[in-house]
Amino acid sequence: MVKKLASYIKEFKLATILTPTCAALEVVMETLLPLMMAGIIDKGITPGNMHEVYKYGAIMIAMAVLSLTFGIIAGRLAANAGAGFAANIRKAMYDNIQTFAFKNIDKFSTSGLVTRMTTDVTNLQNAFQMILRMCVRAPMTLICALVMAFSISFKMSMIFIGAVLFLGTVLFTIVKITMKLFEQVFKRYDDLNESVQENVNAIRVVKSFVREDYERKKFNTAADNIYKMFVKAESNIALNAPVMNLTVYSCVLGIAWLGAHLIASDELTTGELTTLLSYIMAILFSLMMLSMIFVMITISLASVRRIYEVLSEESSLVNPENPDYEVPDGSVDFDHVTFSYNTSGTRPVLKDIDLHIKSGETIGIIGGTGSSKSSLVNLISRLYDVTEGAVKVGGKDVRTYDLETLRNNVAVVLQKNVLFSGSILDNLRWGDENATEEECIRACKLACADEFITQMPDGYETHIEQGGTNVSGGQKQRLCIARALLKKPKILILDDSTSAVDTATDARIRKAFREEIPGTTKFIIAQRISSVQDADRIIVLENGEVDGFGTHEELLAGNEIYKEVFDSQTQGSGDFDEKGGEA
Ligand SMILES: Nc1ncnc2c1ncn2[C@@H]1O[C@H](COP(=O)(O)OP(=O)(O)OP(=O)(O)O)[C@@H](O)[C@H]1O
Ligand SMILES: [Mg+2]
Repeated sequence: MVKKLASYIKEFKLATILTPTCAALEVVMETLLPLMMAGIIDKGITPGNMHEVYKYGAIMIAMAVLSLTFGIIAGRLAANAGAGFAANIRKAMYDNIQTFAFKNIDKFSTSGLVTRMTTDVTNLQNAFQMILRMCVRAPMTLICALVMAFSISFKMSMIFIGAVLFLGTVLFTIVKITMKLFEQVFKRYDDLNESVQENVNAIRVVKSFVREDYERKKFNTAADNIYKMFVKAESNIALNAPVMNLTVYSCVLGIAWLGAHLIASDELTTGELTTLLSYIMAILFSLMMLSMIFVMITISLASVRRIYEVLSEESSLVNPENPDYEVPDGSVDFDHVTFSYNTSGTRPVLKDIDLHIKSGETIGIIGGTGSSKSSLVNLISRLYDVTEGAVKVGGKDVRTYDLETLRNNVAVVLQKNVLFSGSILDNLRWGDENATEEECIRACKLACADEFITQMPDGYETHIEQGGTNVSGGQKQRLCIARALLKKPKILILDDSTSAVDTATDARIRKAFREEIPGTTKFIIAQRISSVQDADRIIVLENGEVDGFGTHEELLAGNEIYKEVFDSQTQGSGDFDEKGGEA
């Protein structure tokens, strides 16, 4: 895991190595400074030699400047390396997400992916930056200061060792308890993020159902929980300061007391005593830093795991080794297809489907909600792979085609379709980026979208908001159909794509399809019999199984479900689900 993540440091390797180096040099300067101070006192002030005072003073200033410079460089490099590392990881995650199949996206959920790419990467970036600066600095300060202290006075250093042991034990106990708390905090963060994302995404639904209060309470509880846990964790960390103060002052007292004795017995000079006092501060602070590093690592560890999951997720759909780049025609065969969304022994949503459709046919699909209509057509463009059997397009198994080739030849207007922010033309060109304006207009005429687009003030240049919020449901559906048509596909699948379009327009769209693109195999999923009755053949789905397959007349004569739905709809009321469908 660490190895994989480390590979994203890439062009920031130099900065990553230089940061600890500069930090180390900074430490060296800082450790030498108190020695110079001792020089000023022992060789300058005590014997009254001003020349020595100036000399050591000058060296001290030079060292301080150097230390400052190294510190600044280390800070900049760390920021650079941290931000660069995060950018690389984000890019890699984004690239990998682009290869995801629907199945992978189902696994993480969209909001989960967003959280991982934002909050989690930021956590990692902060930790990385801090660790780069501190991982060398803290232990090195500790060791250098201890070595110097020992070289000055062995007896006094015993006080240091005692302090280090005491503070070390207390700090690490605190950190250990806090780590557990932080882990829990971050789990709750996930819940909070998911709830926020879900809510903001569906804010219109929340408002129309007047669920604001309920949602507010739900959110407040989640936020309060996090608040309480954070306070608990942070108040543990806050214990650090008093413990630290206690140790520092005890040490100062101890050193002053023992130092006075040693100076009196000529075993120590005054300068050395001040130096030792500086070192004890450095040592205790470095311990503090070490404990903070552990906290940072804990905080980021959960994020690292979540980032790694996205990075290492392999698309469940892969291109075959020698892909086929040629789709001969628009025929579709389902050979004893069984399909379930997850392989862990759940009930299959499609059972033993065996259907053979000729190129150019128009096929209607009808069935109650949850009867697996969408699941059936999603197999054709390989949005999911079959569990058993095979789906063939143009006589060849869909798994032998190059994915891009297949999807360019099989255009799907998904049931839950979206438009993207940009002009209408931009959106249409998702179908074919090189389409001319004339081609776009023709596609829109076919989909009966032209009539409302030309009435908009900016026509084809009208700006569509993110998610297509400034067009009506039916307008959006027609734009999505036009976008799919621009692909000039061999197979066109409309998954309930005219549900929000009035019946007359719906009929005109179908007529246009019949006359203008007769060679294209068309699958039309609908709830209204009127939308499919003029299809060449109609599939009646019931609980993932084919209940009937034939022309409108044949089904009326021989299929119970179809007949019931037809009756209920022609009697002027009811739709599919009121009668028949859900038996
Ligand atoms: N991504 C998914 N992961 C797991 N199960 C799913 C998924 N999508 C659909 N299902 C399940 O598969 C079954 C068939 O769903 P499908 O969407 O194919 O029905 P449908 O006939 O298109 O319904 P509708 O008319 O409401 O669009 C349902 O029981 C549903 O719960
Ligand atoms: Mg559906």
